[in-house]
Amino acid sequence: MIDHGKLERNSILMVVCILLVVSIGGLVEIAPLFYLESTIEKVKGMRPYTPLELAGRNIYVREGCYNCHSQMVRPLRDEIERYGHYSLAAESMYDHPFQWGSKRTGPDLARVGGKYSDEWHFTHMIDPRSLVPESVMPGYPFLAKTEVAELDMAAHLRANRAVGVPYSDEMIANAESDLLAQLDPDADGLDGLQQRYPGAKARNFDGKSGAPTEMDALIAYLQVIGTMVDFSVYKASDNLR
Ligand code: HEC
Repeated sequence: MIDHGKLERNSILMVVCILLVVSIGGLVEIAPLFYLESTIEKVKGMRPYTPLELAGRNIYVREGCYNCHSQMVRPLRDEIERYGHYSLAAESMYDHPFQWGSKRTGPDLARVGGKYSDEWHFTHMIDPRSLVPESVMPGYPFLAKTEVAELDMAAHLRANRAVGVPYSDEMIANAESDLLAQLDPDADGLDGLQQRYPGAKARNFDGKSGAPTEMDALIAYLQVIGTMVDFSVYKASDNLR
C-alpha cells in the first residue's frame, strides 16, 4: 500500500509516479501501431505501382505537386460529394512517402484517375490556362521533352521493396521492359506486365511517337490514382458523418 499523504507531499515522488503511469498508458496506445499490418484493413484491388506509374509518381514528388494538391478525401459529406469515396488507409499502403499533402491550392487528386482523358492531362500539364483560364497552376512543358529515365527503375523498385512494398524478384528483373511495354499496347511484354500488375492500363499516354517521356509517366500515374479499389462494392454512406 502506498501512503497517499507521503506521495502528495513529495513532489519529486509524485512526478516519478505520474511519469510511470503516463508511460504505461502511452505504451499500451503506441506499441500496437508499430505492427502496422494489423491496423490497415486489406482491400481488394490494391497492387504495387507499375514501373511506369512509379516513375510518374517520382516526377510528381520531384516537382512538388503535393505543395498544391492533397491526395486524401476526408469522410465528410462535402468532400465525398465533390471528389468521390473517402480515402481508405489501404489506398496509400504502397506510397512511400505518402502524398496526403496538407494544402489544397488546387483540388484533391485522390480520385483523379479516369476523370479526364490523357489528352486533357497533356494539354493541361503543358499550359493549364489553355483549359482553365483562371488557373494558378504552373505549366510543365519540359516534361514532354524529357525522356523518362527507364534504366534505373529496377533500383527504384528495390528501394520500395526495402520499405515494404511487395515487389518480387521477377518484377525487379523486368522493370525496364515492363515500363516500355505499358506504353505500347502491341508490345510482346504486355501479357507479362498484366500478369505482374493486374489491371494495369497500357497505351501511349502522351499520344506522341518517339522515346518515352516524363509526360508519359506522369499521365500514367495520374490516371491510376484512386482507381485500384472497386468502390461499387463499398458504401460511402456507411461512415458518413
Ligand atoms: C501553385 C500550385 C500548383 C502546383 C504546384 C500544381 N498544381 Fe495542379 N492545380 C492547381 C490548381 C489551382 C488547379 C485548378 C485549376 C486547374 O485545373 O488548372 C490544379 C489542377 C490540377 C489538375 C486537375 C484536377 C481536377 O480534378 O480538375 C491536375 C490533374 C493537376 N493539377 C495536376 C498537377 C500535377 C501533376 C502537378 C505537379 C507536376 C501540379 N498539379 C502542380 C495548382 C497547382
